[in-house]
Amino acid sequence: MREQIEQIRKEALEALSKTNLQKDLEELRVKYLGKKGALTAILKQMGSLSSEERPVIGQLANEARQSIEKKIAQTAQELKDRELALRLEKEKIDITLPGKQPPKGSYHPLSLTLEAMLDIFRSMGFDIIDGPEVETDYYNFEALNVPKDHPARDMQDTFYLGENLVLRTQTSGMQIHAMEARKPPIRVIAPGKTYRVDEDSTHSPMFHQIEGLVVDKGVDLCQLKGILEQFAREVYGPETQVRFRPSFFPFTEPSVEVDVSCFSCGGKGCRTCKGTGWIEILGAGMVHPHVLEQCGIDPNEYTGFAFGIGLERLTMTRHKITDIRLLFENDVRFLEQFDK
Ligand code: PHE
Repeated sequence: MREQIEQIRKEALEALSKTNLQKDLEELRVKYLGKKGALTAILKQMGSLSSEERPVIGQLANEARQSIEKKIAQTAQELKDRELALRLEKEKIDITLPGKQPPKGSYHPLSLTLEAMLDIFRSMGFDIIDGPEVETDYYNFEALNVPKDHPARDMQDTFYLGENLVLRTQTSGMQIHAMEARKPPIRVIAPGKTYRVDEDSTHSPMFHQIEGLVVDKGVDLCQLKGILEQFAREVYGPETQVRFRPSFFPFTEPSVEVDVSCFSCGGKGCRTCKGTGWIEILGAGMVHPHVLEQCGIDPNEYTGFAFGIGLERLTMTRHKITDIRLLFENDVRFLEQFDK
């Protein structure tokens, strides 16, 4: 029996030292120490031993069990350590590597330009107001001195949504909304989307205007020029000259077309200004007395001026963009160049 115990011990320890897997370890435990294991089988024969031999063999069997248990625990720890070392090796991260940059969005060039423009007007004391893109015929035309069948309607090729509803062709209808909602002194800026049936490299069926309106006692053309001059110099630089050319809009009298000296050549004449030295940036004029009157403002007491700036044109001149369609194609390679 002694030999048998010793044999089991040796065999078990040897098998254990060759074990590489946690699950083999468990199998060996069952094989040697389990209820049906080799050592237990020996112990079951103890009954046949003499009373002197029994404690001796019992002790031997216990010692064998203990040394096998110890070896199992030791091997288990070794396997665990090895596995951990392996994982540490495999899952090593180099914290000096640069991180992955998530793709970052950027503001659209039109938004950037609009924000810059609004900042300028805010600093001059204008309120920023907002209004509907779907307008009634009244706000888009009639109240602005363009009755039905008036030839001036041909100036703006209109998307009609019904007999009396249009996609607004201009933000000038906001002049009417502002004069109906407020009492002079009025000093507002109304930016927004506008629509015309038109498309080529300088026209888009949807575009943006920034409408300005000032109504007060003693407002005149010189003040209009002063404001636009200050605006132009903030946008195009302090050397910029502003010139008024007589023009026509049904709702302003007199009406002007406003040019700035070419920011590319300083007025000498170049490709950007087509050799003229000037670049047209907006339409403006003194609010027609009839328009004031229709909004309940006495033209004998109050005067006003209004202007309408094309946001796309402004953005294109600021960034030397030659085709308006680039602004609406949503090509990220184009758009991300404008981020601050
Ligand atoms: N609404 C005019 C246009 O779209 C521009 C304008 C605005 C002219 C305000 C005068 C005053 O052409």
